[in-house]
Amino acid sequence: MSLSELLSHHSMPSDPVIYRFDKLESTNSTLKRLAAEGAAHGTMVTAQTQTQGRGRHGRQWVSPKGNLYVSLLWRPGRDQDEWGCLPLVAGVGLHRCIATMLNSSGVDAEPLSLKWPNDLLYNGAKLGGILCEADGDAVIVGLGLNLAWHPDDTPYPATSLEALGMQPCTPASVLKKLSPALNKAYAQWDLTGFAALRATWDSASIDVGTEIQVRLSGEQYSGSYAGVESDGSLRLRTEEGAVRQVRVGDVFPVVPALEAA
Ligand code: BTN
Repeated sequence: MSLSELLSHHSMPSDPVIYRFDKLESTNSTLKRLAAEGAAHGTMVTAQTQTQGRGRHGRQWVSPKGNLYVSLLWRPGRDQDEWGCLPLVAGVGLHRCIATMLNSSGVDAEPLSLKWPNDLLYNGAKLGGILCEADGDAVIVGLGLNLAWHPDDTPYPATSLEALGMQPCTPASVLKKLSPALNKAYAQWDLTGFAALRATWDSASIDVGTEIQVRLSGEQYSGSYAGVESDGSLRLRTEEGAVRQVRVGDVFPVVPALEAA
């Protein structure tokens, strides 16, 4: 049976429950509570604004009205030691969806890329981020996507779909397209593991050989990006030529120093 035939038999919620709120502290926190009360795989929580939206490593995710803030509940059937690649699985779904939207609006989708483990970038500027949080047998996949607004005071450049020239779109209309794209990526992972999505990740991610720095809790490693392992961890080729596996950390492309005038 082909993958598409297999996927058509895969039991995804055909009509997932979506809880919509005007304002929440964090869609991830609310969905975590619902998951503890037994919410089903595929349940989603979305809010127009968040007062305590959070990013990775406890950072704040500023959440004014107009952007998309959504959390999705996955109850993975696969072993817990495979869950580390779920941010990448969600990233593949997000990238596919936004690339399609850009193309159909006449905006070049080529500069759209994924940066390990959870960033959606356009020309290196952050367009969206993913925060996966595991709780018992549940994984809460939180996505923030800049539709109309982006911060201009972050240590990295940021952008939004509107700043890229797309017509204004509502969070609800984007979620309608994003939900099946995430379901499809999840179903591929659930059926065959990350191996099936690795090539898609590779073609969407920053180029192998890009000079990067990996930072985690005070430590910093330099080298070049050498792709990802089958468990979703990062491969960093060190300056000595060895390949180091990184499970947790932030990646920063190395910007060449400007030549003196
Ligand atoms: C990151 O890039 O650090 C991840 C950002 C994730 C933000 C989203 S917005 C919806 C969901 N609820 C949260 O509190 N965070 C995630």
